[in-house]
Amino acid sequence: MERVVKFLKEAEVYYLATVDGDQPRVRPFGTVNVFEGKLYIQTGKKKDVSKQLHANPKAEICAFKNGEWIRVAGELVSDDRSEAKVAMLEAYPSLQGMYSADDDNTEVLYFKNATATISSFTAAPEVIKF
Ligand SMILES: Cc1cc2nc3c(=O)[nH]c(=O)nc-3n(C[C@H](O)[C@H](O)[C@H](O)COP(=O)(O)O)c2cc1C
Repeated sequence: MERVVKFLKEAEVYYLATVDGDQPRVRPFGTVNVFEGKLYIQTGKKKDVSKQLHANPKAEICAFKNGEWIRVAGELVSDDRSEAKVAMLEAYPSLQGMYSADDDNTEVLYFKNATATISSFTAAPEVIKF
């Protein structure tokens, strides 16, 4: 999983796809944090993306960097524990102006049953499950 986290952090931006009924939705995201050995992302409960993930946790993210692209497919599970949110906010001090661990909005979610695939035009795909 370290390879996946390193890729996403270096890419800086990834695109998170969710399911909204029969309509795919995608948007740019940047947050990535490892907590208790799991890969977490952060959002706000008020956002449509959060509502979509609560209705259907299946999600996929995609990022591109230096001729390689990564896709991580799995389920995103909300973790409402304060310590998981604090760890995320400590990793992204810039978020602390908008979010705090004890507001009613901050949400962190971790990937479950995830399969990451790192691809390029020149090498065989690398598959990482976590
Ligand atoms: C570079 C970049 C990174 C972003 N990272 C995040 C993020 O990690 N979490 C988040 O909730 N929103 C992030 N956003 C904002 C979301 O893309 C934006 O709120 C989006 O509208 C959320 O999707 P939704 O409208 O379907 O709810 C980021 C935006 C940009 C441009």
